[in-house]
Amino acid sequence: MAKVRGKKEAKLSKSKHKLTEAQIAVHWKEEQYFRPSKKFIAQANLKDPAFVKKFSERYFPECFDHYANLLDWDQPWRKTLDTSNPPFWKWFVGGKVNACYNCVDRHIAKHKNKAALIFVPEPENEPPLVITYQELYKRVNEVAAMLRDFAQLKSGDRVTIHMPMIPELPITMLACARLGIVHSVVFGGFSGEACGLRAADSGSRVLIYADSYYRNGKKIDHKGDADIAVATAEKEGQNIDKVLIWRRYAGHNTSEAPMIMGRDFYVDEVLKDFAGQTIEPVSQDADTPLFLMYTSGTTGKPKGCQHRTGGYLAYVTGTARYYQDIHPEDVYWCMADIGWITGHSYIVYGPLALAATSVLYEGVPQFPDAGRPWRIAERLDVNIFHTSPTAIRMLRKAGADEPKKYNYHFKHMTTVGEPIEPEVWKWYHEVVGKREAVIVDTWWQTETGGFLITTKPALDLMKPGSAGPAALGIYPAIWDETRREIKPGEDAAGNLCIRNPWPGIMQTIWGDPERFVKQYYSKYRKNPKSKKWQDWPYFAGDGAMVSADGYYRILGRVDDVINVAGHRLGTKEIESACLTCSKVAEAAVVPVVDEVKGRVPEVYISLKPGILPKKAVEDKVIATIETMIGKIARPKMIHIVPDMPKTRSGKIMRRVLAAISNTMDTGDITTLANPDIVEQIRVLVQGRHVGPLKEGPADIKMFGEET
Ligand code: WTA
Repeated sequence: MAKVRGKKEAKLSKSKHKLTEAQIAVHWKEEQYFRPSKKFIAQANLKDPAFVKKFSERYFPECFDHYANLLDWDQPWRKTLDTSNPPFWKWFVGGKVNACYNCVDRHIAKHKNKAALIFVPEPENEPPLVITYQELYKRVNEVAAMLRDFAQLKSGDRVTIHMPMIPELPITMLACARLGIVHSVVFGGFSGEACGLRAADSGSRVLIYADSYYRNGKKIDHKGDADIAVATAEKEGQNIDKVLIWRRYAGHNTSEAPMIMGRDFYVDEVLKDFAGQTIEPVSQDADTPLFLMYTSGTTGKPKGCQHRTGGYLAYVTGTARYYQDIHPEDVYWCMADIGWITGHSYIVYGPLALAATSVLYEGVPQFPDAGRPWRIAERLDVNIFHTSPTAIRMLRKAGADEPKKYNYHFKHMTTVGEPIEPEVWKWYHEVVGKREAVIVDTWWQTETGGFLITTKPALDLMKPGSAGPAALGIYPAIWDETRREIKPGEDAAGNLCIRNPWPGIMQTIWGDPERFVKQYYSKYRKNPKSKKWQDWPYFAGDGAMVSADGYYRILGRVDDVINVAGHRLGTKEIESACLTCSKVAEAAVVPVVDEVKGRVPEVYISLKPGILPKKAVEDKVIATIETMIGKIARPKMIHIVPDMPKTRSGKIMRRVLAAISNTMDTGDITTLANPDIVEQIRVLVQGRHVGPLKEGPADIKMFGEET
């Protein structure tokens, strides 16, 4: 078994004002490989090395026809890829397809009595609810009829859905897809205000909500957020005509918020008029948008990643089949939230297109105790499990031996969203997977639609701490700031790019094509006039290195994004929220290493003249962040500082603040306009950290800082 060791410190190019996630990345040593079991290999969807060869560069782009052929098309495509207007690629040109038909209708003939969704409510005394493909078909049709005839929505209209993890969420999404309505699902944990801004940006005139849901043992009243969302959207100039509210228990109100006559409607009541109705799926051009997913970027405003119907569905179906090894007889559980891209691609569209049973869990993993996920797995006989490193770290901390108490057997486990430490990977493998399951560590992004870097579970060896080689038909490159390519095995890190387009790539940023080009393509494109895809590499915004065996290790973001517990937050978004507080003069947000969540934001603020640094100001800033963005953006700490470290031109040196928060070396500060402030801030901040002063963990290196 090969062993690659002896990596020294990697170098990322020096960034002047920021200390990014990638630069404070944990730098673990190379690990030994693990092999998939013979039993797994024998039953795997992808075990033929000849299939892999079909995806080599000389077969691009037609190699992706293999994915598209997994779907039922209403009309076949004429051309696999049209590159005439880079980087606005067109996939499966001329093809017509319906996403809902492929996830629901086409399974009725063979699988109508099979569970499509199994909903597990958080309260353990509520039994799981099984929705067969036949039942899903009925419910999706009725909802589609309601959207068309009651809400007056049609193909191309956008609708914003702010719902928790209840089965009505995928039902609503599929009903939209049936008609070609572009859904924009906002994660339930975002605030009403955040939802309203996204609704306005997408031009939605209908909002779909839930009245309440359970989270961590508490009933959360959600309907009130709808009122805030409507008011916020209206402030932005977008009128909302209708708010459709799913009730957690049909016929019973569980929200305190009043209903607004003529605007708010309970879905269970409206649906009575549509009972038993069926609606033909509306055939869509392959490139019609299927959905928007808002995500944080480098500016304050979240951007709506627009995903297409044909290419996206083909890509998630192919990747769910080959990397997650989903067969129709599997019970698959992805413990993410549908409000993120992971849930869209790998709870709803990928697994359902493959006629799998997809489990939906309402609540938090460790409620009421750390044995809960393993009880669910045992009860439902889940055999494919998918979660994030943060959830794994949390469950390990809360009950490292719990999985041993339950009789479940996973053949396959996925991780996604953040780098996973080798130690945590090994616990996942040994204890959760009982050494029987293969693990795929999948790297991808909201923008990419599906997995781009991952091992092929039956064909590749696993290496803890490395995501693995590129996925089929994906040709990555790592370049430094001067476009020098960093070669496999070279002891350096750089910017991860993908040299080619693929069917799952987003189409554009909703309403802002220039930003799309600028953000992802302007850095490394060779020639803006070129029509050749080879001249338009995709810049992912992540730092990475690649070892001699071709396995990629992802270090984290190189921009202003912080990945908190696998969720993307823009530091600029949080800073803008702080600056709306009247007493705050300046704000800077930095990523800080956290044992469980990977990274968390810490906020530095300076106050306007004459304002005293009181706890009340901190509380106000926290409350504002929660109102404007949501609880997920709650900073670990707020530091009120007398002044920010600044360059002579007045730029805040976030790099210095991040170094202080992470107890790292601040590097050269002599060029600052106010170098004396650094020591003052260090004393203030490090004095506030509870317990003995924490030394920077030995394996954390500050890349890019010349020492
Ligand atoms: C990070 C989530 C390390 C990365 C699907 C990326 C990862 C961001 C991994 C996208 C992984 C995702 N290892 N880091 N396996 N997967 N990331 O858009 O920084 O919510 O840019 O999509 O998560 O987050 P997003």
